[in-house]
Amino acid sequence: MIKKLNLSAINKLFDGLKGSWDNRAVVRNKILDYELDYDLDIPDFMEDLLPFKNHPLYEDSSQAVKSKILSCGWLIYNEKTVNIETKIISPACINIIDKKFDLFLAENIRENIAQVLTDESYHTLMVIKANALTMKKRQLAPFRFPDFDLVSNMQTMLGNLNCSKDKMLLGLACAIVSEMSISDYLSKLSKESSIQELNRQVIYAHWKDELSHASAFKKILEMAYCGFSKKEIDSLIKYINVARAWFESSELNVWRSVLLQIGFLSCEKMLNECQNEVRDANNKIFWNYSEIEDVIQRL
Ligand SMILES: [Fe+2]
Ligand SMILES: [Fe+2]
Repeated sequence: MIKKLNLSAINKLFDGLKGSWDNRAVVRNKILDYELDYDLDIPDFMEDLLPFKNHPLYEDSSQAVKSKILSCGWLIYNEKTVNIETKIISPACINIIDKKFDLFLAENIRENIAQVLTDESYHTLMVIKANALTMKKRQLAPFRFPDFDLVSNMQTMLGNLNCSKDKMLLGLACAIVSEMSISDYLSKLSKESSIQELNRQVIYAHWKDELSHASAFKKILEMAYCGFSKKEIDSLIKYINVARAWFESSELNVWRSVLLQIGFLSCEKMLNECQNEVRDANNKIFWNYSEIEDVIQRL
């Protein structure tokens, strides 16, 4: 049984999100200091997030190699963020702003989603700048990144769908999964004091914005339940479940390519041996889908 929408509560929420943007948004406030001291002895990324952190070939590497691999982890993490912002969230925001979905859209909701779109553009700039700075400080040449599993899986499925509405629903599902689960992930990473302070601040700044986006997309999911046809809701839930698995990918193909580019030639054996083990254990701990499950259960 689908519940009726409480339109005044929805308006109140989006008025609040819209009204707090000037004070909250990273793009509107000078929160990040790219001139912060950079200590080459402090790692760029958390070892815990490496999918091969327990493999002997990694464990037995020199400190210099481990440090370089952790810098690669930071570059990959940021490059994945660029992909999520530009290929998943931004297109979904544009579809919402263009009123492509039956979402009872009031102008304050469109305005808030336009703010989200602006935030995501700024997050893209933020992590591109962070990567440029890391490469400069660590004297790393730019990498060639292959497609991320997350994006290539989505694009393959989009290519297999014939109906344009289904394509938009898949895009919306991916955006909902990302926006409703990423803030928990960022919150945990932003408390990590063992990494380069600027890197932690980039994650923290991103998390502050994503907290607000999570509320907006939670409401969008609730509105979808009330505005969509039964067939559309079924498709949306099906795509949400598919997308969840994509987000948990450890992106071993990207790792293989990057490790080869830094000359870690035994990576093939290491990654092959990791892929059937606990490769996604960390991601499963970090990606929290409880909010999505709660909305689906409730409605
Ligand atoms: Fe973002
Ligand atoms: Fe976001």
